[in-house]
Amino acid sequence: MVCHTGRVNDGRLVDPALQEGDREVDLALRPRTLEEYPGQQHVRENLAVLLDAARARNEPPDHVLLYGPPGLGKTTLAHIIAHELGRRIALTSGPAIVRPGDLAALLSRLGAGDVLFIDEVHRLPRPAEEVLYGAMEDFRVEVVVGQGMGANAVTLRLPRFTLVGATTRYALLSGPLRDRFGAVYRLDFYSEEELQAVLRRSCRLLDVRADEDALVELARRARGTPRVANRLLRRVRDYAQVRAGGVVTLAVTRDALAQLDVDELGLDRTDRAYLRALVETLDGGPAGIETLAAVLSEEPDTLIDVNESYLMRCGFVVRTPRGRAATQRAYEHLGAPWRAAQPGLFDQDDA
Ligand SMILES: Nc1ncnc2c1ncn2[C@@H]1O[C@H](COP(=O)(O)OP(=O)(O)OP(=O)(O)O)[C@@H](O)[C@H]1O
Ligand SMILES: [Mg+2]
Repeated sequence: MVCHTGRVNDGRLVDPALQEGDREVDLALRPRTLEEYPGQQHVRENLAVLLDAARARNEPPDHVLLYGPPGLGKTTLAHIIAHELGRRIALTSGPAIVRPGDLAALLSRLGAGDVLFIDEVHRLPRPAEEVLYGAMEDFRVEVVVGQGMGANAVTLRLPRFTLVGATTRYALLSGPLRDRFGAVYRLDFYSEEELQAVLRRSCRLLDVRADEDALVELARRARGTPRVANRLLRRVRDYAQVRAGGVVTLAVTRDALAQLDVDELGLDRTDRAYLRALVETLDGGPAGIETLAAVLSEEPDTLIDVNESYLMRCGFVVRTPRGRAATQRAYEHLGAPWRAAQPGLFDQDDA
């Protein structure tokens, strides 16, 4: 399976990169049908119509673009689409495709009706992206055969296939690529009730004994993200096994989360370091993401995808044309005296 960019995983709960040993459990927990997939009702309903219509016409559905923060189920949905259509899925990612020929080779191996999943589709190199335009629109690719004076452009006809693209950064997608997706779905953070449903299902699959109030607590601190909910459940299960006779109770959950440094709102150490850097070191902002990343010794992309999306959802951070600024809520959360952001103190480089 394709992994994300960013830093090597250091065990942070919200990091998209999987820890050793978690990969198989993660795969086992992946819903395989739309029916089994809790949450994202809007996306599910629209996707069901798209797939039903395609099945009724006996032709592949339009190309699908899925976007939204990490861990909300984009890759899972790509697999579900192939499964629901009863077709094979080929997997790749933007950064894995170095030359246009890599993509042409992949396309040429597709069978009729197959699904091609391109993760991090915003990171496709431009020449490869241009190959994709013809493939998506006319189901053909031009490949250059031979070299120098003897080089020849040959048009390769492709069977009709469905491209499923996924991205955490919709804004970085080029206009022409965006326009070629017939169906575009945005995944949003899950409600606590939806995460409880995810957790109940995971408990069943993993044979975990957990009290209902413990699952409510876990769902509340899982930052709207199934990947985080499942990861917290696994860590709390370990804790319950070693310290509390195996049952995940509310008390065990609270102790385990305290040990993991996950606070009442589900913020982890990096989230709080981000807030402190913005509030204390950078005087509340506005500050550019590069400045923040330098202060925190983090990758800007990781901060944008993993931390900021949730901090903004909590109302702690706002993005202004001059950069990121802390809100009064952020000051309150840190117990710092509120002072409004000073314009222009730190350079903008709004990403
Ligand atoms: N609706 C859901 N119900 C149950 N589990 C889910 C759901 N969505 C995601 N998951 C779980 O969360 C994990 C992460 O989901 P997935 O890999 O599909 O997210 P993603 O959006 O592709 O993330 P990224 O942007 O990091 O690639 C899955 O392995 C699965 O176990
Ligand atoms: Mg994914």
